[in-house]
Amino acid sequence: MKLLITGGAGFIGANFILYWMNHHPDDSIVNFDKLTYAGNLENLKTLEGNSRYTFVKGDITDGSCVDRAMDGVDTIVHFAAESHVDRSITEPAPFVTTNIIGTQVLLNAAVKHKVKRFHHVSTDEVFGSLELHSKEKFNEQTRYDPRSPYAASKAGSDHLVHAYFVTYGLPVTITNCSNNFGPYQFPEKFIPLAITNIIEGKKVPVYGDGLYVRDWLYVEDHCRAIELVLQSGKAGETYCVGGLSDDISNIGVIKKITHMMGKDESVIEFVKDRPGHDRRYAIDWSKIRRELGWKPEYDFDSWLEKTIVWYKENKAWWKHVKTGEYQTYYKQQYG
Ligand code: NAD
Ligand code: DAU
Repeated sequence: MKLLITGGAGFIGANFILYWMNHHPDDSIVNFDKLTYAGNLENLKTLEGNSRYTFVKGDITDGSCVDRAMDGVDTIVHFAAESHVDRSITEPAPFVTTNIIGTQVLLNAAVKHKVKRFHHVSTDEVFGSLELHSKEKFNEQTRYDPRSPYAASKAGSDHLVHAYFVTYGLPVTITNCSNNFGPYQFPEKFIPLAITNIIEGKKVPVYGDGLYVRDWLYVEDHCRAIELVLQSGKAGETYCVGGLSDDISNIGVIKKITHMMGKDESVIEFVKDRPGHDRRYAIDWSKIRRELGWKPEYDFDSWLEKTIVWYKENKAWWKHVKTGEYQTYYKQQYG
């Protein structure tokens, strides 16, 4: 099988490529990535010189570049996106361009090339926000209610993907997944930001009252879910993917991290809240368990600890990432 992976130089895309190359020795991969601030080929340096792996620097909104990269491809796994909610609040335009227009350009090319599967990697944020302390969870029937420019742009892309199934018969699948954590996550996101700030002796900014709840999933579990959907998922279907944790607040997450890193809670700094901040996410992943036999294998606490170890052992990776554009972003975001 020949796969085109978009956004393969980012956090989840890179983890997915490394996972797939390991588990599918007969397959080849084309990694198509624009290398925005979030794309980093360092994540894939172990694949340099591997004849089963090719990198193409390109923008998914560029139809002719996409068309060339799709030659001989049977399967597309579409990760490429602007992915950070806070950046979407400061500057929404690139989110609409990449996440909506870019997805539509890819879909058109996929129809033209008659690919066997177009898998779209999406998010639980399209469903909006749940009440704190409720037992409610998002599932495949939950009404879309995106509340940030990022979530709205991902919702738009999901609708386009489904429309290409209905209108053109393109064999698509969609996963809507909760918050991932693990190696190679860009330190603008909460967990790697907290870990790397603590290593640097800096405070950890916590938005608002810190009682917001996210559903956490170790990145390799997400990769396995996508693998199963590619192998046995039904065209036209959506699968919700989520973690094992009971509701845990952001403060709860930070307390675990500080404890695991031998620090006290004085590292926490409450800062101005994110506008439109979604209160709570929780995922009901019973459909993918029932139909495809998937369940998360990695529990939150031990894999959070292993993630901390990864950031401690890979200082050069994130110290490099935290220079240049990151410094400007950090000052603008946190003052
Ligand atoms: P990321 O920001 O780490 O990586 C995004 C990648 O896409 C980067 O390599 C970037 O260079 C590339 N890219 C951006 N714009 C592009 C363009 N126009 N053309 C080609 N490449 C482009 O993102 P991530 O956290 O790895 O998320 C990957 C996907 O998974 C996204 O679609 C995101 O919406 C979705 N998702 C993420 C999470 C999460 O917790 N991180 C959870 C659920 C779903
Ligand atoms: O739910 C899936 C989504 O998870 C993905 O679709 C997104 O691509 C991904 O970025 C992530 O979105 P979140 O907004 O939930 O993740 P983030 O790491 O930015 O924030 C997690 C929580 O922590 C959220 O409640 C906001 C809070 N937070 C975040 C940052 C960066 C803070 O309190 N302080 C911070 O500095």
